[in-house]
Amino acid sequence: MLVLGFESSCDETGVAMVQTREHGVPTLLSHALFSQIEMHQAYGGVVPELASRDHIRRVLPLTQEVLEASGRSLAEVDVVAYTRGPGLAGALLVGAGVACAMAAALGKPVLGVHHLEGHLLSPFLSEDPPEFPFVALLVSGGHTQLMRVDGVGRYEMLGESIDDAAGEAFDKSAKLMGLAYPGGPLLARMAEEGDPKAYALPRPLLHSGNLDFSFAGLKTAVLVQSQKIMAAADVAQFEDLPHGVRCDLAASTQAAIVEVLVKKSLTALKQTGMSRLVVAGGVGANRNLRAQLNAECAKRKVRVHYPEMHLCTDNGAMIAMAAAMRLQSGLQAATTHYAFDVKPR
Ligand code: KG4
Ligand code: ZN
Repeated sequence: MLVLGFESSCDETGVAMVQTREHGVPTLLSHALFSQIEMHQAYGGVVPELASRDHIRRVLPLTQEVLEASGRSLAEVDVVAYTRGPGLAGALLVGAGVACAMAAALGKPVLGVHHLEGHLLSPFLSEDPPEFPFVALLVSGGHTQLMRVDGVGRYEMLGESIDDAAGEAFDKSAKLMGLAYPGGPLLARMAEEGDPKAYALPRPLLHSGNLDFSFAGLKTAVLVQSQKIMAAADVAQFEDLPHGVRCDLAASTQAAIVEVLVKKSLTALKQTGMSRLVVAGGVGANRNLRAQLNAECAKRKVRVHYPEMHLCTDNGAMIAMAAAMRLQSGLQAATTHYAFDVKPR
């Protein structure tokens, strides 16, 4: 089966073509992505209305690109998949509307996909895909979750953030430091030059005994710490501090987030007795997180799988892949009921 997939939940328009197989992992034939980040940067965050309008502009040219790169025609597509949620309602409606209209015109069925299942299964797009079962650490801009994954569609939540997500902690701390949206990757880059032990920041819920996370307090601690540093240096703006000092605070912030993520992942592995960890979502691109997880997991003979770097953040490939894996496993049939809805939350 040929699956054409659309992702439009936030500020990335993604389209991809995936082929199911009788056995093994479905194959990615082609994918195309357009990131709106530059457009939203002027506003310090995603502007939902602008995001929806830009998805409309990009989605058909990207589809054309995907068809050409895959060497397949629209008529050969068997199922059209799209992100049904969570995400921005208007943005989701673009992908859902285009997917359902296209499927209706072709007389082919549609399949709505959960955005987080796309992230969760994105490591299956890599050359060395994981095997079930595994523990998954899902760390995106909107979610931080630990899950037990026994197969496609067989997910058990072990713990999650009770407030901000890890990506949000990165982005909000970065904003305090005067970095552009989304600040996570920029903060991570500065952290590489800083001393992670320079400032003592809280490790929320580190010793809570359960697998839940809380990151809302961290940004307050970063704010208080940055105000102290600025007062001592007698500067009015964080950007006026010496580069080394700013890098030290970035490194200390990253260290606090990463330590909690690593510790809780190791606890989840121990509790479930599993020897495989899958890390997915935008924060999974963080090099410090990867290095520390790799080191700790190597000591415990645990294999860690990540999506390829460019597939950590939102993309269409993971949505087409999740749809293909659901279809291939017989878990879900696509439908010709074209009256679509979306699930923003
Ligand atoms: O999964 P994603 O693309 O979007 C959601 O579904 O939320 O994740 C985006 C998040 C943002 O918060 C971004 O700052 C963060 O991932 N991120 C990073 C890095 N790259 C992306 N955070 C820390 N270090 C990075 N290298
Ligand atoms: Zn995402």
